[in-house]
Amino acid sequence: MKGIILAGGSGTRLGPLTVSTSKQLLPVYDKPMVYYPLSVLMLAGIREILIITTPKDQSRFQELLGDGSQYGISISYAEQAEPRGLAEAFLIGRDFVGDDRVTLILGDNLFYGHGLTDTLRSAVAEPGPGATIFAYHVNKPQRYGVVTMDKSGRAVEIEEKPENPKSNRAVTGLYIYDNSVLDIAREIRPSSRGELEITDVNRTYLERGELKVIELGRGIAWLDTGTCQALLEASEFVRSLQRRQGLQIACLEEIAFLNRWISRSALEQVETRFRNSEYGRYIGQLLRRNRP
Ligand code: G1P
Repeated sequence: MKGIILAGGSGTRLGPLTVSTSKQLLPVYDKPMVYYPLSVLMLAGIREILIITTPKDQSRFQELLGDGSQYGISISYAEQAEPRGLAEAFLIGRDFVGDDRVTLILGDNLFYGHGLTDTLRSAVAEPGPGATIFAYHVNKPQRYGVVTMDKSGRAVEIEEKPENPKSNRAVTGLYIYDNSVLDIAREIRPSSRGELEITDVNRTYLERGELKVIELGRGIAWLDTGTCQALLEASEFVRSLQRRQGLQIACLEEIAFLNRWISRSALEQVETRFRNSEYGRYIGQLLRRNRP
């Protein structure tokens, strides 16, 4: 299973914050935003990851995350020249995906909560064929892709930002596909907003009877960070939980260490590197909690 993080886009709803930096590098409390979707892929056990950015921001992402070896994973990079839609990820990432299956996550989506890792791991382990998407009850579904289900829990309709949504089930920015997504993405045409819509990809799976919808329940938080308000709320969420529990959300080295992808000595180096920040002190605590 390959993983793609789509971190392109111009982030205009966050201007002027996004004039000189990528939205997905802005802080969500104490970490760059991209840490959160990357942590989700790592929790799902995915180790080969492509990060798609704008051409101008790519070097910043490379500076931050390198080739991924410090997390025991492999990260490569590709460019999306213009914000031409989420489904373009599969045109840009075609060679990277090869014959494999692929999980796509949006670089500005934050998922956190009880049972999430198990849900992800079993969804990723399912051999397919088909697609798996994740639905979440939201207050303002008209801002999202919206899926309608019948009484037996089967998806019957999927619409992009409908004016009059038929349900409150938003389609979150996390999608698992079999290899045929590469060909489906090639066939779809730009929507009225000029984008290759992921909703059109998902509708193709739905019409084939191959779209599985997993509902993320109320024990899960799904936050997006597209507006200043949402960004601050996401930061507050992370800060509150971390302060209360003394456990970090999206500490990449912790996930890598607990997955046995990196060694203690790698963790010791991270502690030294970040010794002046909370993050570094947390790594120190992690080392002491997990004495051999
Ligand atoms: C995109 C998708 C939408 C999905 C949302 C999740 O919206 O088009 O279907 O619900 O991501 O964050 P956009 O970010 O393009 O507004």
